[in-house]
Amino acid sequence: MLLNHLHLALAAVSYFPTALGKLQTCKGRDLPAIEVFGLEIVDITAKEHHDYEDWQPFPFMPSPKKPIDFCNFTITYTHPGQNDHINVYIWLPMNDTWNGRFIGQGGGGLTAGFAMALAPSVASGYAVAITDAGHTFHNDPSKTADSEWVLTSPGNINWPLLQDFAGRALDDLPKVAKQVIKGFYGESPKYSYWNGCSTGGRQGLMSAQRYPEDYQGIVAAAPAINWAEMAVAGLWPHIVMNRLGYYPPMCEMEAILAADVEACDELDGVKDGVIAAPGLCTFDAKTVVGQSFDCEGDSRKISAEAAEIANEAWKGPYKGDRRLWFGLPHGTPFSVAGPWGPPTGLATTECDEKNQNCRSRFFAVSTSWIGNVIRRGKSADLSEMDEEEFYRTLRLSVNEFASVMSTSDPDLSDFGAAGGKMITWHGLADQLIPVNGTSSYYEKVLSLDPEARSYYRYFEAPGVQHCFGGAGAAPTAVLDQVIRWVEEGIAPETLTAATMPAPGPPDAAPVVKHRPLCPYPLVSAYVGGDLSESSSFECAESFEVKKRHTEL
Ligand SMILES: *[C@@H]1O[C@H](CO)[C@@H](O)[C@H](O)[C@H]1NC(C)=O
Ligand SMILES: *[C@@H]1O[C@H](CO)[C@@H](O)[C@H](O)[C@H]1NC(C)=O
Ligand SMILES: *[C@@H]1O[C@H](CO)[C@@H](O)[C@H](O)[C@H]1NC(C)=O
Repeated sequence: MLLNHLHLALAAVSYFPTALGKLQTCKGRDLPAIEVFGLEIVDITAKEHHDYEDWQPFPFMPSPKKPIDFCNFTITYTHPGQNDHINVYIWLPMNDTWNGRFIGQGGGGLTAGFAMALAPSVASGYAVAITDAGHTFHNDPSKTADSEWVLTSPGNINWPLLQDFAGRALDDLPKVAKQVIKGFYGESPKYSYWNGCSTGGRQGLMSAQRYPEDYQGIVAAAPAINWAEMAVAGLWPHIVMNRLGYYPPMCEMEAILAADVEACDELDGVKDGVIAAPGLCTFDAKTVVGQSFDCEGDSRKISAEAAEIANEAWKGPYKGDRRLWFGLPHGTPFSVAGPWGPPTGLATTECDEKNQNCRSRFFAVSTSWIGNVIRRGKSADLSEMDEEEFYRTLRLSVNEFASVMSTSDPDLSDFGAAGGKMITWHGLADQLIPVNGTSSYYEKVLSLDPEARSYYRYFEAPGVQHCFGGAGAAPTAVLDQVIRWVEEGIAPETLTAATMPAPGPPDAAPVVKHRPLCPYPLVSAYVGGDLSESSSFECAESFEVKKRHTEL
């Protein structure tokens, strides 16, 4: 249902008819030689598909579900001497359904690209490409954190392959794809875009920072920037559990979250189950210790330990008085079920069927990063990690890998000068990547270049979880909005956003709330009227705005 209202918005962008005279042959041998400095093409395969229907909608690329005609090129190349073997998958719409644009689609976790993004992009008219960055390609999002590929052998990191994943292959992707597109259609794409969330968001920022001419428009959502810190710091709630020797069942953490939302929901002027002003929330979980809650039919009381874990998760890791990284904003779930694979979150546990004997279920990216990269495959057991070891691991991660992976350079001047436009949005209830790492990055961008808003805008989405989900309104047309910015010069003053329809009987009218998301640091403040209408909200410096300015 989310996808349905997303496409309506997408259908609005304009369309460039392609060169009708050109014979589009889907044969590798008809492509002119692909030449990119430092690359050697190893193999090209091409396959023509007609009325292809074997695909599913994809949350980051909403598009109508319909049969598609495309040419499937796979270009395999190496960086000679580095022993890598990288595949770029390029799908080109046929029968003159190309909209003249190229789109590079991002990945997630430690996976460089999602094949699931290809067909929906073709269905929307894009020439699309993804890369596997030279390592195992997972089309199964529950396995995206796998990182065995990062070791050449136990104890030894495959640095070129890690560099490929971090950045290099991201630069190769559009360089290869644009040549294939030109060879196939007889003309280059009129515009090139990047679209990604999470690792895809990090990849978008990497392009803007290091390869500023690859894309004219970038959507870098919920970016996994500050990777070296983020991938380790997220373990903090588990380190607190280890110290306390207490692993709360999820029902107990959910009871604390419910009390948190109850206490702070209205600080933003609207009671809607969403904390839009987490910075104003001073809720202390200690105040609900002893309160009863229902754990799947079993009546229990909130423990002092669980309250401490929640407070520490909100505060984030400290060493003495020194903040090492950000915590989760108030209102963020400690764990979220599915939709892909097991529950994820920064304080997730798993228990027996009676919700007892629980243990940590770590964020898979952290386990993978620490086990295979920081510890080089020696051990991935984090269940004994104490504070000292946590501090040491965090320091090692930053010292050894920040320059490779963190993607935190705030200097976007080359991207701006090249005419690029970028939008980042991030859910305030992101259960995996605390939103504050993104706002602090954006503040650094602005302090370096106070005019950066002319090419880079950041929006926070209250109540939205990692990339999607949650009770808040998520952007519905962000790719369109970046396209308008690039092609028509219309900068996004707000992002159009809507909630998922509330669950209920199928015949009940779905309640969809529309909200404008405001450019940071502005917030979307209620000014009166119907809570489900965008027009009841205005961008403001604080939530204090209570009355609509009706005098016109
Ligand atoms: C596209 O080509 C690649 C490489 O030959 C192949 O692995 C993949 O399955 C093809 N995709 C489809 C949808 O057939
Ligand atoms: C596209 O063209 C091919 C032949 O080149 C044809 O088989 C196919 O049915 C066409 N598809 C559409 C949707 O027109
Ligand atoms: C984190 O971000 C939220 C949303 O912008 C803000 O309200 C809060 O004050 C920030 N917290 C910190 C510690 O910077």
